[in-house]
Amino acid sequence: MDEKALFLEAKKMLPLAYAPFSNFHVGAALLTKDGKLFTGVNVENSSYGATICAERTAFVKAVSEGYRDFSAIAIASSGGEALPCGICRQFMYEFNDDLKIICGEDENNLHIYRLNELLPGGFRLREK
Ligand code: THU
Repeated sequence: MDEKALFLEAKKMLPLAYAPFSNFHVGAALLTKDGKLFTGVNVENSSYGATICAERTAFVKAVSEGYRDFSAIAIASSGGEALPCGICRQFMYEFNDDLKIICGEDENNLHIYRLNELLPGGFRLREK
């Protein structure tokens, strides 16, 4: 699946976002190394702090189904280009510090990043 197609999968998710507080809808489409697709949306909460971003929703769906090897994630939003927040960067770093991240205003204006450049020196527990 190419970058544009993955971004369109993320965009397709926008109506399913649960975002009554911010009204900022986010969709994510996560591709495994063997070509399986997992999608996600942001799920907000009255406590605000319990809100889960679209990226983490997609990751949690995939990991809980037994997938841990990821090649790319695309992120679409209702409010222009959205890059992953700091918590999501660290969350994704756990699985692939070189993950390809596809963002953009729309499918014809994509920006491609690698997680390493968005989160240099991410945290990892080291063997003692
Ligand atoms: N959000 C995401 O889902 N992903 C991002 O990359 C940035 C922020 C959500 C969290 C919250 O529901 C809303 O966008 C506004 O911050």
